[in-house]
Amino acid sequence: MRRFVVLLAGAGLLMALTILLSGCTLGASEQGNPQTLPPIVTDEPLPSPLTFQNTTRIDASGRQIVTNPEHILVLVNKTRNLPPDFVPADLVAPQVPFPFTAHEPRRFMRATAALALEQLFAAAHAEGLHPYALSGFRSFERQAAIFAAQVARVGEIEANRTVARAGQSEHQTGLAMDITSREVGFTLTVSFGATREGQWLAANSHRFGFIIRYPQGKEHITGYSYEPWHIRYVGTEVAELLFTRNLTLEEYFQQQYGFGIN
Ligand code: DAL
Ligand code: ZN
Repeated sequence: MRRFVVLLAGAGLLMALTILLSGCTLGASEQGNPQTLPPIVTDEPLPSPLTFQNTTRIDASGRQIVTNPEHILVLVNKTRNLPPDFVPADLVAPQVPFPFTAHEPRRFMRATAALALEQLFAAAHAEGLHPYALSGFRSFERQAAIFAAQVARVGEIEANRTVARAGQSEHQTGLAMDITSREVGFTLTVSFGATREGQWLAANSHRFGFIIRYPQGKEHITGYSYEPWHIRYVGTEVAELLFTRNLTLEEYFQQQYGFGIN
């Protein structure tokens, strides 16, 4: 009797394992394994894989810290942290409308991104649109305060979906800017995506080297809810590519350089 029970348990275990394994295989093939995709071929050469070899180190707490924080394509997310003391050397205030008058660090972007933002705003204005820049550069300490405030407001689980922890925000790179409009009360809200300014931003940012960094439907890849307001400078070449192929920065890195999706 005991042997029968053991046998039965063994068979059950084997069955469960088979189902589990076949389920995994199915899941992987359904989603597509990005590592098996061929590298992207474009008219313009993309940065060589050598550029992104060994771009992290492990700190004393076991966190991955990026070693290329000043690179225009730096990949920063929930697993790739910026050095806490990283502050870009070339921060400037783009000459675009902000819905406040104070001269605060949140006006700043890196010089190349600031110039591209000015061009983006000029094109939007030429079409009768009125976007406003709200939040650009944030220091590690500022991001820590914003995350803590969000946790106090909505709890840690929800905060994790909407605000980056200190060291994990693109705002610290000086390459991101949050955009808003009068129609949404100069706030950062999902409904901005349906406004004329939001729609224009989604359709045209790539022409100026920006991407909508946290798109709808890619939350499981980026780790963040849809943010129609957060644009990230990556340069026109990569921005065009990501736009036309509907890729996130994580997917681009995975396909082109073999890492990025966790
Ligand atoms: N809201 C984005 C994810 C940030 O906090 O950087
Ligand atoms: Zn943002």
